[in-house]
Amino acid sequence: MDVVVVGSVNADLVVKVERRPAPGETVMGSDLDTFPGGKGANQAVAAARLGADVALLARTGTDQYGTRLVAGLAAEGVSVEHVVESEGASGVALITVDADGDNSIIVSPGANARLTPADVAAAADLLGGAAVVSLMLEIPLETVTAAARAARRAVLNASPPRPLPRELLALADPLVVNEHEAAFLLGSEGDPAGMARALLALGPRSVVITLGAEGAVVAESSDAARPVHVDGSPDRVSSGDLPDHASLGPRGASSDSASSDLASGARGPSGRADGVVVTVVPSPVVDAVDTTGAGDAFTGALAWRLALGDTLPEAAALAVKVGAAAVRREGAQSSYPRMEEL
Ligand code: RIB
Ligand code: NA
Repeated sequence: MDVVVVGSVNADLVVKVERRPAPGETVMGSDLDTFPGGKGANQAVAAARLGADVALLARTGTDQYGTRLVAGLAAEGVSVEHVVESEGASGVALITVDADGDNSIIVSPGANARLTPADVAAAADLLGGAAVVSLMLEIPLETVTAAARAARRAVLNASPPRPLPRELLALADPLVVNEHEAAFLLGSEGDPAGMARALLALGPRSVVITLGAEGAVVAESSDAARPVHVDGSPDRVSSGDLPDHASLGPRGASSDSASSDLASGARGPSGRADGVVVTVVPSPVVDAVDTTGAGDAFTGALAWRLALGDTLPEAAALAVKVGAAAVRREGAQSSYPRMEEL
């Protein structure tokens, strides 16, 4: 397997509204749409659509949604051998999408809450054999941590945000967050590059902050980073082997694009002696219809490219395009692109 996702499966119940109700208020919305979702399933489908070999370790319920959700995943080419049925409700997400395409989501965990470290242990061979294990936080934290421990490389999308155990944070390579989640983990806001550096100082091996229309920012310690030129176009992303000393200095991206390389050699807030390399990855400009699941599409694509051996900035350059494509259509999985559409 390229990627094993250990995570959630939800039925997304979506209503479009002009604006959201205030407490005590009732507003009229659109007819109900039911989409396959869940941050785990979404990552898996995003990767599968691009051509990844991907398996999902998850739990679904015995309600009206469970069987349909699993059948849908199988039809996408996701290996569902390790999707276990649990007595009771499936995960359900209640989603409103407003006129700007922005969403608000309430997740009812259902069977996702019953995915345990024992489930991870039972799939130890699967996880240990995968190039990348991709994770999110809609399942119990002990389960996420157990999966990260069993992984050769763990990609962790810290969404929805919650306090993270140090051990889990230290295993993330990268930690993937949006700006809200970054501010939550840091306890304060800042500019994206500064937040990426501050997050890296909390202990993960690398960091990606997704910035919506602004693309993404990547932070790695300069020992880990390989010099790359990122211009947002996967077939023009290249990496070269510079001599060792070059990895300590500032690296201007030598393409003619909007990409910039902000950092070099500074002592991080943690006081580590090595430098931090921050790379900005620009996004194509798109009209947002529905941003639901764009972060999951980004993470699934990133996990796949890392599994194939891309550097983190290279993987992020492709993932930004996948996320941008996903906001152009309704729903989460229903909006994910195939490789040829990029
Ligand atoms: O990230 C989007 C996802 O969040 C939706 O598919 C919904 O299921 C919630 O988990
Ligand atoms: Na979408």
